[in-house]
Amino acid sequence: MWRYSYFRIFFVIVWAYLEFSKQYCSCLDASLDNHKGWKQLPSTDRCGETRFNRRIVGGEIAALGQFPWMARLGYKQKRDREFKFSCGGALINRNTVVTAAHCITGKNRKELKIIRLGENNAEKPIDCEGNVCAPEPQDFKPKNILPHANFSSRSYQNDIGLIRLRRNAVFHDFVQPICLPRADFLGPSFDLVGKVETAGWGTINPSRLEMPSKLYHVTLEMRDLDMCRKVYTEYKIDESQYCVGVGKGKDTCRGDSGGPMMQLVNKNDASRYFLFGIVSFGEEICGHDSAVYANVIHYMKWILDNLSQM
Ligand SMILES: *[C@@H]1O[C@H](CO)[C@@H](O)[C@H](O)[C@H]1NC(C)=O
Ligand SMILES: *[C@@H]1O[C@H](CO)[C@@H](O)[C@H](O)[C@H]1NC(C)=O
Repeated sequence: MWRYSYFRIFFVIVWAYLEFSKQYCSCLDASLDNHKGWKQLPSTDRCGETRFNRRIVGGEIAALGQFPWMARLGYKQKRDREFKFSCGGALINRNTVVTAAHCITGKNRKELKIIRLGENNAEKPIDCEGNVCAPEPQDFKPKNILPHANFSSRSYQNDIGLIRLRRNAVFHDFVQPICLPRADFLGPSFDLVGKVETAGWGTINPSRLEMPSKLYHVTLEMRDLDMCRKVYTEYKIDESQYCVGVGKGKDTCRGDSGGPMMQLVNKNDASRYFLFGIVSFGEEICGHDSAVYANVIHYMKWILDNLSQM
């Protein structure tokens, strides 16, 4: 009799554990490694590489070519003469950019006219550093704009989307794709913890309203979703999102909406940047609290399915 109850308790614990891990693990799905969508993506030895992987860059201004997958989205209203670059994105192959759904829905969808790759300092037509100069940025028109069908502009759930460019980008040291998470490289039990990075041309100093002309990057820390739930009480934040914060004593802003949250992963002497998050929403005042990012691992099936459809 006693034995029987212990047995039952044991099973209840195992069941609870399995249920719990199912719900709270945003683990990589190894079966996705065979998805046909990968045929349209570079293999893991052809992505996420920068010329500056091991270089320590002073300050927060990105080095030339440090994040060669950075894309800027340019919007144009009829009466405006100039493009307004107010969202970012990440290049994942020769002609696809991942961004936030809110950057490509509603008014933004209509006004998105240009996708710029290979930009560093927006004030200069040609960027140089030391005696190295990057070629001119490459501009593209969108061919296909695909926000997640269940994106909600009220809750900011499913804030992810794809843009197909009208022609292929020319790859060189300053224009390269970032890697997407794959179980066979990262391991099926990979867990995103610790430090991550984001980059963008977003507002850096809240007391100055103008946008910086240079690409900035910042190191952030993964946080519990509960920390974001406390700050953004009007949102329902779940496992399809990440909560990412600024480390203690730092006062920096997040990058542009739609821009990448990434981590440098080392394996077999190779260092590759992987795209893990997409800047979704945060507080207007910088350096204050955590911000919410769309969880790319959660949307890998969606990305792979929709890549083959575009
Ligand atoms: C959107 O939500 C509906 C209803 O919950 C679901 O059936 C559908 O699969 C979702 N679409 C995507 C692309 O996830
Ligand atoms: C995108 O992916 C979702 C889920 O994987 C699927 O339901 C939807 O039909 C796809 N959309 C397109 C346009 O292929």
